[in-house]
Amino acid sequence: MKCSLCDKEAVREIPYMKMYLCREHFIEWFDQRFIRDSKRYRLFENSKRVAVAVSGGKDSTTMLHLLSQASKQLNIEIVGLTIDLGIDNGTGYSRKSVETAVKNFEIAHVKYKVIDLGSDYNFTIDKAKRGTNRPACSVCGLSKRYILNAAAEEMDADTLATGHNLDDMAQFIFSGYVYGNLESLSRNSMVNPPERGYCVKKVKPLFFTPEGEILHYAILRGYPFIYDPCPYSSEFGSVSQERIGDMMKSMEAKMPGTMMNMVKTFEKQIRPALHDIYSRDEDVGRCKLCGRPTTKDREICSFCSIKNKLAAKQ
Ligand code: AMP
Ligand code: FES
Ligand code: ZN
Ligand code: ZN
Repeated sequence: MKCSLCDKEAVREIPYMKMYLCREHFIEWFDQRFIRDSKRYRLFENSKRVAVAVSGGKDSTTMLHLLSQASKQLNIEIVGLTIDLGIDNGTGYSRKSVETAVKNFEIAHVKYKVIDLGSDYNFTIDKAKRGTNRPACSVCGLSKRYILNAAAEEMDADTLATGHNLDDMAQFIFSGYVYGNLESLSRNSMVNPPERGYCVKKVKPLFFTPEGEILHYAILRGYPFIYDPCPYSSEFGSVSQERIGDMMKSMEAKMPGTMMNMVKTFEKQIRPALHDIYSRDEDVGRCKLCGRPTTKDREICSFCSIKNKLAAKQ
C-alpha cells in the first residue's frame, strides 16, 4: 500500500483517519498530533515545570521524548521521575525498568530523580507481596500515586505527566461501566486540576493515542525501552483486567476506531456529566505521620499504613 501523502511504501494504516503513512510521514504526523492535542486540550496551560513519570516501558518513554522535543513549543520545562519499586521475583524487572528510564533521561538531556522504595521508604513491592494479603498491584498502584505526587512537589513541578494510552483508557472506562465505579470514572480525565489536597495538576498526554501506534513509533525512533511485563501481571485482579483488555482489542479488530470513539465520547460527554454529580468538594484530612492528603475518615494514609504494617513484620 502507498503512503496517502507521498509515493513511498506505507508502514502504518491509521484506520480511524482512513490513512496510510510511510515511515517519515507517520513520525511527522505522530509528533504534530502530540503538540496539537496538548494545545487543544490545554494540558499545559499555566504549567511551568512538568515532572514526567517514566517506567522504561514504551508509553512513558515515548511520552518523555515527545515532551522533551516539544518543550519549547509548549513553553514548559521538563524533569524526569522514576521509581525503583523493588519488583524482582527472579526477573530483575525493577532494575531493568530504572536503568532504561535513566538511559532515556540521559539521551533526552533531562534532569531526573530516582526514588527507591526500598531505601527511601523501607519496603519493596516484593516484600509487600509476601507480607500483606493485598494483591501486589494494589500496593504498587497506591505507592506509585503517593510517591509520584510527593516527588513531583519536591521537584517544584506544578504538573505530573503519566504515559497512560488510549487502550488503557478504553479498558479503564469499560471496566468502570461493568463494575459501576462511577466515582473513579468521574475523575478519569486527560487533565485533572490539583484537588483533594494535592498540589500538582495531572495530565495524560497519550490519552487518545492507540498503544499499537506508540509501539510502532517507539521502534521506528529507536530509543531503548523494556518489553518485559511486570512479573505480577498474571495475578487474579490483573487477569480480569487483561480479559477486558482482550475483549476491547477484539472489538477494535472487528470495528476499527471503536476505542477512539469510546474514549472520545467518554471524555467529551460522559465524564463531564459524571463530574457534575460526583464533584462535591470532599473534605480532605492530613496523615498524622507524613502530613500528606488522606480522606477525612483516615488518620493515617493508606501508604503509611502499609509501610508500618510491613515494618512491624521485619
Ligand atoms: P501503570 O500504572 O504501570 O499502567 O503505569 C502508568 C504510568 O505510570 C506509566 O505510563 C508511567 O508514566 C507511570 N509509571 C509506572 N511505573 C512507574 C515507575 N516505576 N516509575 C515512574 N513512573 C511510573
Ligand atoms: Fe506494579 Fe506490577 S505490581 S507494575
Ligand atoms: Zn509519505
Ligand atoms: Zn502518610
